[in-house]
Amino acid sequence: MTHLTQSPREAAAALVDGYLAVLPTETVYGLGALADGTGVGRIFEVKGRPEWHPLIVHVSSAAALGGADAWARDVPAFARALVKAFWPGPLTIVVPRSTRVTDAITGGQDTVALRSPAHPLTREVLRKLDITTRSHAGVAAPSANRHGAVSPTTANHVARDLGAYLSPRDVILDGGVCDVGVESTIVDCTGVAPRILRPGSIGIPDIEHVTGLHVSDEASDVRAPGGLAAHYAPNARVRLINESELGNVDAGVGLIAMSNVATPAHVVRLLSANDVQAYAHNLYAALRDADQQGVTDVVAIAPEGNTGLADAIRDRLTRAAAS
Ligand code: TXA
Ligand code: MG
Repeated sequence: MTHLTQSPREAAAALVDGYLAVLPTETVYGLGALADGTGVGRIFEVKGRPEWHPLIVHVSSAAALGGADAWARDVPAFARALVKAFWPGPLTIVVPRSTRVTDAITGGQDTVALRSPAHPLTREVLRKLDITTRSHAGVAAPSANRHGAVSPTTANHVARDLGAYLSPRDVILDGGVCDVGVESTIVDCTGVAPRILRPGSIGIPDIEHVTGLHVSDEASDVRAPGGLAAHYAPNARVRLINESELGNVDAGVGLIAMSNVATPAHVVRLLSANDVQAYAHNLYAALRDADQQGVTDVVAIAPEGNTGLADAIRDRLTRAAAS
């Protein structure tokens, strides 16, 4: 049995000892190991993730971007502006890596993805690690799900998905339900202007406002495999539909939509959100509910609008539907 705890001290101790700690963040739960420790290899085993797939390094603050033990080098001014505005928070920057970063973290690329998460328990873990390791500690952590599956937004999701793969010395830090519910916005900061590699709650207008630059829509040559066509998928088959197609949906099918969409007779309502925040917050739990309830087919009507969160939801649903 993997140990569930609410103690940041226990989670930090497990990491220092080379074990894994599942950490709550404001986006989704992450499967963490010290980024320059021996636990990194086990992340790939437990997740069942291909080794060329790079990991985000989580740090306590922007101080980890500079100095002798930094995780990055040559961080451009616009990336620093983003970090100043949005850390701690659901923003990941991709920047040139320092010599501290190993190929195991980056999948051999010369860039590294960095984020400072906002969840108070995980901030406490990162602060403790800074003190214990006498450095700007880094915790490599992908979302704490099996590769290609739905990300976890509660500690119980993680226990169910990864319990069979974790060791008794690994810990799950239970920080309740994740606030945002979808993964961080990833911004490629290796060019002259920011480029979005994965949409999240911090949207294009936010990024343009803070940097004073246009977000480039040129294809990035940075490889972000979270951009794989098929990802975030439950066992159930997911289809994105328009509200006008709802009349053709069969009995027993699951429905994910805003609350202004009525539930047709014999359809299983999995999510009914009053706003886009609630949609994101509950989306992954709804996809998991489908599997729990034995619903084999799900239809989703994506929210309208071009906020970061609406973009992120459409992105995740499109990938879930591609599986
Ligand atoms: O909200 C989040 O970002 C969560 C929490 C736990 O922090 N983490 C997360 O990690 O979603 P993961 O591994 O499931 O997704 C990270 C994405 C992957 O698509 C990966 O390809 C991309 O970040 N990535 C990591 N390093 C990269 C790099 N150097 N260049 C481009 N993309 C990178
Ligand atoms: Mg993931």
